[in-house]
Amino acid sequence: MRYRHLLSYSVLLLTSTVTMTRAHEQQQMAFGKTDIGIQNQVHALVDDLVQAESITKSCSSCISLLHIIKKMSYMPESFLVNTLTKVCKKTQKVDDEVCEGVMREQAPIIRKVLPSMTISGRDGHLMCAAILNSCPYPEVEEWNVPFPKPKPDVLPITQKSKGQTLTVLQLSDWHIDPHYQPGAEVICDKPICCRPAYTDYTNITQSASIWGEYNCDTPLSLIQSLLEYIPKIERNITFGIMTGDVPPHEVWATLPVLKTQLIQDDTYRLLHSHFDSPTLLHTMLYPAVGNHEAAPSNNFPLRSSNVPIEIEKNYLDLKWLYKSLAISWERWVPFRSQADLELNTGSYAIRPVDGLKLISLNTNFCYILNWWLYEHPMQKDPNGIFSWLIKELQDAEDKLERVWIIGHIAPGDNTCFHDYANYYNQIVDRYAHIISAQFFGHTHKDEMTIFYGHGKNQTAQEAISVGYIAPSITPYLDLNPGFRVYKIDTVTFEVVDSITYTANLDQASTWLDGPDWHIEYSAREAFNSSGAKLNSATSPLSAAWWHNVTVDMENDEATFDKYYQYTTKSSPMTKACVGDCKKNAICNIRAGKSEQRCDYESDVFNGEGVRKKSYKPEAHNCAFNMEGIRARRQRISGF
Ligand SMILES: *[C@@H]1O[C@H](CO)[C@@H](O)[C@H](O)[C@H]1NC(C)=O
Ligand SMILES: *[C@@H]1O[C@H](CO)[C@@H](O)[C@H](O)[C@H]1NC(C)=O
Ligand SMILES: *[C@@H]1O[C@H](CO)[C@@H](O)[C@H](O)[C@H]1NC(C)=O
Ligand SMILES: *[C@@H]1O[C@H](CO)[C@@H](O)[C@H](O)[C@H]1NC(C)=O
Ligand SMILES: *[C@@H]1O[C@H](CO)[C@@H](O)[C@H](O)[C@H]1NC(C)=O
Repeated sequence: MRYRHLLSYSVLLLTSTVTMTRAHEQQQMAFGKTDIGIQNQVHALVDDLVQAESITKSCSSCISLLHIIKKMSYMPESFLVNTLTKVCKKTQKVDDEVCEGVMREQAPIIRKVLPSMTISGRDGHLMCAAILNSCPYPEVEEWNVPFPKPKPDVLPITQKSKGQTLTVLQLSDWHIDPHYQPGAEVICDKPICCRPAYTDYTNITQSASIWGEYNCDTPLSLIQSLLEYIPKIERNITFGIMTGDVPPHEVWATLPVLKTQLIQDDTYRLLHSHFDSPTLLHTMLYPAVGNHEAAPSNNFPLRSSNVPIEIEKNYLDLKWLYKSLAISWERWVPFRSQADLELNTGSYAIRPVDGLKLISLNTNFCYILNWWLYEHPMQKDPNGIFSWLIKELQDAEDKLERVWIIGHIAPGDNTCFHDYANYYNQIVDRYAHIISAQFFGHTHKDEMTIFYGHGKNQTAQEAISVGYIAPSITPYLDLNPGFRVYKIDTVTFEVVDSITYTANLDQASTWLDGPDWHIEYSAREAFNSSGAKLNSATSPLSAAWWHNVTVDMENDEATFDKYYQYTTKSSPMTKACVGDCKKNAICNIRAGKSEQRCDYESDVFNGEGVRKKSYKPEAHNCAFNMEGIRARRQRISGF
């Protein structure tokens, strides 16, 4: 039901019963008779293809649909928008306005990208695999990432831990909704509710609380209470990080760009007022770029992208975004790094404290819903992001510094391209001795991702790095709101504890003095066991330790159940996870690179359009895969 709406947007832009709006009718009038003939034929063809959602179950239907959309890319834009909207409505059964808006905003990009793609070859199969899980996932194109120097045989001796810690705050997935209104309808036809525009005030089923709802994005009141609460529990925060996604999930109406930009400007003004104030948080904040920062959502072009040259479409180059972020991040991100930020399409490096380099990566260049990335030939090092990362890491190695990497989407996420994640893993492997920790967001859940040596087994000995995936502030969807505090070794900058805070939103009606923010758990306390032992009070939560925690999860039901409950910040909507769900969840923690995940099928595909292994569509009907498809779609709906 609700969750159907969630499938909303992406499945997609590929994918819809035309209730023509007046504007569309007028556009159609502008076509000749033949064009209308073609349009009707195309619509009939598309109807067949999307019958019973066959494009999500059959690779060949998905490829056929892409062939049609590619042909339409050479025709007037309105034609493509109409057809994509039709496919969206047909398959998504989502509110008409959502399909229409997403297509109106994103079809112009699809129209530029599809003509370059080899639909029957790797490009088309990758798109169908990555987004719809309807084709086997093409094998990673092998690439040995080049490094300026080999890994040192004898690792340089760095300073030893003094057994002291400092405190770092992580905020993620803010998703403020300026239109949130207490008392508005919680149950609506849009992906997010609690807005007056979607409320029939004469007949309200459930009215929104002051502090938020499981169906809705974040109200300002929740954010304010959180920002006021943090300095009460942590008096001495060394710095904060914010791993992306400031705007709401209003993916069908992100334009004009000024609208999305204003939400971000206002947010950063509010953050500055708390972080910069000597009486409030009084510390620095280092942000990363989320997929929702772009308008239209997700679409970060490459320097080589075929961005439309028409003046009315030049916002698609996102120069406005990088410029406005550089201004919003002033004071926290110093001038030199700001120049980096703009030149470097959203990534920068800084030194928050002596001995630590923090690299903020714009990971939207790994995101399967960033259409620009499908332009042929697909780039192995999109916007030179890997070369830049390696340069920064090599510089840190030469200077005997430690490094943190922060970003929005973790490379092990099921929305990150396998190829990107594979190359990224090689880099983590090469510099694992100096990368003390990584921090991500995007999933809204409280999770982690373990990296292993490239081509090595998934064992404690081979575990090399951990990505902390912090919980969202937004309760969307069916989650409690949350944030993280880390205790960090002052010398090695390794994580000594990860403490998650939450508030039980289902009790919002009983909160007299605002949200009941409280510690949900400390990872040290929750997961220390005889199998995953912490010897001293200051021994770090190493990658090997986290691997052993996942072994505990396999062997001990209580440990897994605890982990799983925490993923939703102990939301009462958490469903039981046993059998394949449990197996996949553990497998996915160990998938530092997304190709190692277990929630969809992979297969062998040689890149020339010839499959080496036969594809079994029926396999996609079994429960195992359906879980994967559901999870994928849920995520795709704009997380
Ligand atoms: C705050 O933390 C820093 C380490 O980041 C430490 O040097 C300093 O002494 C602490 N200040 C107080 C008042 O605890
Ligand atoms: C009130 O809303 C419910 C659910 O949306 C609907 O079933 C019902 O018919 C509505 N009642 C009136 C009087 O509109
Ligand atoms: C992985 O483990 C298996 C069995 O434990 C072993 O035979 C194999 O050599 C290992 N592979 C690597 C790359 O270490
Ligand atoms: C971890 O648990 C063990 C018992 O399994 C206990 O002896 C040890 O003190 C604990 N370590 C920490 C740091 O809590
Ligand atoms: C992880 O488990 C292995 C195998 O039981 C053990 O040898 C190793 O010491 C453990 N490491 C940590 C950090 O818990």
